[in-house]
This record gives sequence, structure tokens and C-alpha cells, in this order.
Amino acid sequence: MGALALLMASQPATAQVKEVEVVHWWTSGGEAAALNVLKGNLQKEGISWKDTPIAGGSGVQAMTVLRARVTAGNIPTTVQMLGFDIQDWAELGSLADLNAIAAKDGWDKVVPKALQRFSKYKDQWVAAPVNVHSTNWVWANKAVLDKLGIAVPKNWDEFVAALDKAKAGGVVPLAHGGQPWQDGTVFEAVLLATGGGDFYQKALIDLDPATLKSDKMKTVFERMSKLRTYLDPNFSGRDWNLASAMVIKGEAAFQMMGDWAKGEFIAAGKKPDVDFLCFRFPGTQGNVTFNSDQFVMFKVGDDRKEAQAKMALAVMDPGFQSAFNVVKGSVPARTDVPGDAFDACGKKGIADLKEASDAGKLYGSMAHGHAAPAGVKQAIFDVVTKHFNGQLDTAKAPEELATAVAAAK
Ligand code: GAL
Repeated sequence: MGALALLMASQPATAQVKEVEVVHWWTSGGEAAALNVLKGNLQKEGISWKDTPIAGGSGVQAMTVLRARVTAGNIPTTVQMLGFDIQDWAELGSLADLNAIAAKDGWDKVVPKALQRFSKYKDQWVAAPVNVHSTNWVWANKAVLDKLGIAVPKNWDEFVAALDKAKAGGVVPLAHGGQPWQDGTVFEAVLLATGGGDFYQKALIDLDPATLKSDKMKTVFERMSKLRTYLDPNFSGRDWNLASAMVIKGEAAFQMMGDWAKGEFIAAGKKPDVDFLCFRFPGTQGNVTFNSDQFVMFKVGDDRKEAQAKMALAVMDPGFQSAFNVVKGSVPARTDVPGDAFDACGKKGIADLKEASDAGKLYGSMAHGHAAPAGVKQAIFDVVTKHFNGQLDTAKAPEELATAVAAAK
């Protein structure tokens, strides 16, 4: 008996709603294209898709709307979610038990432990992981770099030299959107480049007070101030995909962003190594900061269980995980999906992830909910954004960071 048949055999016979309501924040061109793969697959299974997009990078707004909906008793079938947020909802007892389906479909064997740590709550599967993104990337316009004679920077000093050349060449050196989660995404990469993996672990995962207020952390903030000098005047509030578009069009040289940015380049018909370059944030090669998008299944009535199970199985289908992640810029959550269909950046993503994981240098992304719970993440964002916008002195920033984290823990 297949996983779905087994699950349904254990349910009372109830007329089934053949629809899933999916709450997500995938509204950019690349993201929407990737999601369409899933929509199409479910439709083939006879399940229609009620789309509930809530725009806002990294899901900040989506999580706010979700809280209001659940409080009002308006429960969606499934919700895109990240790391610690999954654990919070599971702790509240809001999530479905997917163990029967996961056992029958063999999820334990194919989902890496680093993801299971978030997909499961106390040994109970509550979410289906669709991908692994990594955040410590830089995206560059190849023609701009060639024209200005800029080589791919391998460390901080080379990166600064490259940004200077871009500035002198009349393009925006660094495309950025001034939103707390984007500032936080840059911050975690600068931190990793400055202090290495152990420093990242101690600061952003262990939340060690001495590390948070250390001299090295001061260097991290100094570097953030330096990067701030390479932005255009209109960066404030800009969505991440519009920053990607600046690089795509050659208005900007670089963007520091997770590999969902690749989805924008691909959606614009651009090719890696021809039109754009992808490389690890200078000084972080060998380390990977990751986040995984997962579809959390809420506890729903018996009439919605079959559609929900079909959604979970569709997300975990190996063919789907290949097709989806090729478009999305991420790599499959399942370890048994071949990498053949992936482009050069995707292949590098797969190889880097394995290398980092084998070497114990795979770390959860702070900015994308995989290093610390939401309250701590928000506290870090507040300090980083305040400093980035010139409202907090570099000398005071490490102490303020340590204080904010301690209060949020
Ligand atoms: C990340 C998410 C990605 C992408 C990005 C921008 O947190 O994992 O899938 O959507 O935010 O919104």
C-alpha cells in the first residue's frame, strides 16, 4: 500500500476537500516560477491550489499574518516556514503528525539530520522540507566586471578593492535593499568572513556574551560601515529582487544575497559564467550558512487530510525537488536527488554544502531563522539595522548587541 492509501485507510470516511490553501512569501519572478512547478504537480493529482501569497522577503510579514489567522481560527492547510518558527508552532501543538506518511515514504533516510532538526518536533515529523538555500553568496554582473577589470575577490581586502573599482567605473558597487532581514543577511556573511566558522557558531548560535561584545565583533561592525559606503542613495526599503535586477541590468556590480537571487537571474534568461558570476562571500569559502524552506502542515479537519497528505508527498517527490530547485536557486532537501540538471552555480551549491557538512562547517543562517529563535533574530536585526543606518556608533555596537541578545534569550 502506498503512503497516501495507508494514511487514508486509518481515517474515517469523510468527503474530501480537493484543495490545499498554501501560505507563502514567494512573490518574485524566480520564486513564483519555482512555485508553479508544485502547483502544476498537485493539479495533476486532482488537487487545486488556493494561493495565499504574503509578500515580504524572508517571510517576516507572512509570519505576522499567520499568527493573526491562527488566533482567529482560520487555519491554512500548509505554510512555507523556516527553522525555529517551525519548532515554535510545533510546541504550541498546532501542527499535524506526519509520521505515518514519513515512515512509509522513507523521509528519515533521505533528509539530512541538519534539516530533520527543524522538520521534526520531539521525533514527530511536522513539516516537509523542499530545499536547502545558502546565504553566504555574492552575485556579480560579468560584463561589468570584465569591462572594469575586476577579478573575483577572494578575501575582504580584495572585495574592498573590487568595490572601489566599481565605484570609480561609475556603477553602483553593491546593490542592496535596506530592510532589516537584508541587513542581517549581509551582517552574518561579514561576521563569518571576519571570524570564521567557530566565531559564527559562538556568536550567532551559542549566543555567547563575550563573543558578541568582543573586539572581533567591532571589526564586523566596522566592515558593515565600510560596505554602507558602496550603496546607492535609494537603497532604503528596496526589495531584494529589485537589488538583484540592478545587477542583472548592469547598473550595479555586486549583490550579497542568498541563492534565491539566482532564481531572478534565471527568470531573466541569464546564464551563470556567461552573464553572471556566483561566488562565496569573500573569505567564507568552505563554510556554508544554510536555511531550508519547509512546508509545515497544520492540524486540519478530516475533510482536508487527503489533500494535505498529497501536498506533503508532492513536496518530497525526488523529480519535483530537482525541477523546483533548478528554478529556485536552492539545492534539493533530499540527498538522493541527482545534481545533473543543475547549472554551474547549482552544482557549486551542492558540492559546497556537502564539503561544509562533512567538515563540520555547516551553520544555520541567523537571518533566515536557523541559528536562533525569532525573538533573538529580531533583537540582532534591530541592532544591526540601527548601526547600518548610522544611528549607533561602531564602538558601542558590540555591547548593545550582547545586551539585546541577552534580553531576548
Ligand atoms: C528566504 C527563503 C527563500 C526566499 C528568500 C527571500 O528566507 O528561504 O526561499 O524566499 O527568503 O524571500
